[in-house]
Amino acid sequence: MTVSDTNGDQQILRYRTRQRVVHAVMASSFLILLVTGLALVWGPLAFLAAGGWSRYLHRIAAVAFMSVPFLYLILDRAGAKEVLVDSFKYDRDDVAWFRHMYRYVLGRTAEMPPQGRLNAGQKLHHSAVIVFSAVIVVTGLILWWLKSGLTPTQLAWTAMIHDLSMVALTLLLVGHVFFTYVYTAWSSMATGYVSKDDMEMEHSKWVEELEHDGAEGSSS
Ligand code: HEM
Repeated sequence: MTVSDTNGDQQILRYRTRQRVVHAVMASSFLILLVTGLALVWGPLAFLAAGGWSRYLHRIAAVAFMSVPFLYLILDRAGAKEVLVDSFKYDRDDVAWFRHMYRYVLGRTAEMPPQGRLNAGQKLHHSAVIVFSAVIVVTGLILWWLKSGLTPTQLAWTAMIHDLSMVALTLLLVGHVFFTYVYTAWSSMATGYVSKDDMEMEHSKWVEELEHDGAEGSSS
């Protein structure tokens, strides 16, 4: 859907409200998991764990984080399917995009190969989030419910995989927030809408697709 803003510039709907709600639950539960998890394993933040409240908050946030795929399927099944399929599907332009990624990091998006709804970097980010989140959930559930049945070696491995996956997600988040800032992408999650001009530069194949679908819709 395209609308005009107060300056008359065209805006395209990128994320529906329910998708933005799912993202808010995912982002906020992840940040709580990160802080309460750090309080359990990192000395300088141990004061936050005093009284044991961070253990409880960590578990509450874990339940919220685990609910994300189910919430997505309930609130916006099409959106959930789209992000799952799009994140793992690469084409030749994506391979070319990775070869020129340094230009994207420098904010020179006009020189990049044409991209669909997600650029190759977003695909890599989203698919890595899905994989590492799954690892975190499985190892987290083992640490929560099956800890007493583990040998000391099994416990150490499970905790290490859990913590390293959290480190990976945190590094991905740094990149995610960096690109959100560089490409002023926040509006897509704040209002759902993005500038059509920006999308023509960053996701030209997606804009073509939307226009093609729109033209087909109006002619049928
Ligand atoms: C807290 C700071 C965060 C900011 C500022 C932020 C910002 C954004 C923005 C602007 C988008 C839309 C990008 C686009 O135009 O396509 C997005 C999408 C996304 N973000 Fe974040 N994000 C944050 C946290 C997180 C966290 C913690 C995770 C994962 C643990 C995450 C995972 C995702 C995923 C998977 C999408 C795609 C959503 C979908 O297709 O439904 N984000 N984020």
